[in-house]
Amino acid sequence: MSSAQQNYRRVTACRICESTNLRRFLDLGEIPLVNRYVDPTDREEEETYPLELLYCLECSLSQLSIVVDPGILYQNYLYRSSISRTFTAHCYDIAQHAVDRFKLKQTDLVLDIASNDGCALREFGKFGLRIMGIDPAENLAQIATDLGTPTIPAFWNVESATRILENHGEASFINAMNVFAHVDNLDQFLIAVNVLLKETGVFVIEVPYLLSFVNQTEFDTTYHEHLSYFLVKPLIKQLEKHNLTVFDIKQHTIHGGSIRVYVRKAANKSIPVDSQAVQSLLQLEKEVGLHDLATYLNFSKHVMKVKTDVLDLLQKLNSQGKVVAAYGASAKGSVLSNYCGINNNLVRYVIDDTPEKQGHLTPGNNIEIVPANYLQTQRPDYLLIFAWNFAKEIMEKTQEFRNTGGRYIIPIPNVRVI
Ligand code: TYD
Repeated sequence: MSSAQQNYRRVTACRICESTNLRRFLDLGEIPLVNRYVDPTDREEEETYPLELLYCLECSLSQLSIVVDPGILYQNYLYRSSISRTFTAHCYDIAQHAVDRFKLKQTDLVLDIASNDGCALREFGKFGLRIMGIDPAENLAQIATDLGTPTIPAFWNVESATRILENHGEASFINAMNVFAHVDNLDQFLIAVNVLLKETGVFVIEVPYLLSFVNQTEFDTTYHEHLSYFLVKPLIKQLEKHNLTVFDIKQHTIHGGSIRVYVRKAANKSIPVDSQAVQSLLQLEKEVGLHDLATYLNFSKHVMKVKTDVLDLLQKLNSQGKVVAAYGASAKGSVLSNYCGINNNLVRYVIDDTPEKQGHLTPGNNIEIVPANYLQTQRPDYLLIFAWNFAKEIMEKTQEFRNTGGRYIIPIPNVRVI
């Protein structure tokens, strides 16, 4: 593997407040792009990129120290949202909530930004709304469109927003799930939202919450697509720059702990602001020290402990002749395993139900990705759950393995054997 300095730029000022008062608190080393699965029949040398987090002393935004060229990151994206039943159920709930609360009607346009394979939009579609997706991964946009959710293969920006406005009119509801944290130029993103959003419309940002990230040592959700790690404090600051007001925030357990931030145009006073919901989270962030660098430096020490504990356990099992396989060829699994130095010796194969990932190798450590029937044909003694955010769902679907003596390893927040 070689370093790919030509494909990224270093972050020298905060993405939100432009302060240069940035402090590095996490260093996961040089890691390959974790959504780039290796095709064993067409192997190229893998390039590595530094994986580090910086904390902004001015606005408390945590952010990656580099920005990789998005053309390289999103070229061929194999991640499929709808593989997880838990996520699909979450999408149904949020669609139902939106329809009930904002009285969305059949004529209302719902736009989903970075709509992936149409997973969320399909749930909105069940309520008879007009749906439209936009996603830069051409393979996914095609899959989504084939499955009945019209999807434009493009990045979200003023140009694409204007095109949608001209062809389909204003959007009553714009949903941006797990995308805001992936965006380098948040200003351009929000200018585009203001172009398409109705004066009375609602815009919802769903992002992993840094509170959960720190409390549960979710360091393995640090990867190169994931540029920002949000608290409510910097989010509000960023939205206010664009005359956008947060009127509610809901916490969800999805993806290890996320927030859905409900936003409207500042001029639209018809939707009241739930100050209690917003202020209580701001207060909580402050109380638990998330507006202080020291908290992040402590977090980083705990990450090193997780690394030692995971590696010790796997080496011990290996020396006892036990076979360990993993479940979920997730980005976080590749971060964890590359950072910890887990190789093919320690983890025999990785199961993933995404057909497009099967037959590939995990980035960096090149462990084979296989379908779930390997659990029967090449039975392991232990299953390391890389997709710990879906541990419950994975344990349910592998009940037979468990009932016949199989055991699970969950790596975070502290390594546990179940
Ligand atoms: P996920 O945790 O959603 O995201 P990330 O890649 O950003 O870390 O990835 C979960 C992976 O686990 C994804 O490749 C799909 C896979 N998976 C299964 O194969 N079967 C399942 O039942 C579930 C829930 C996930």
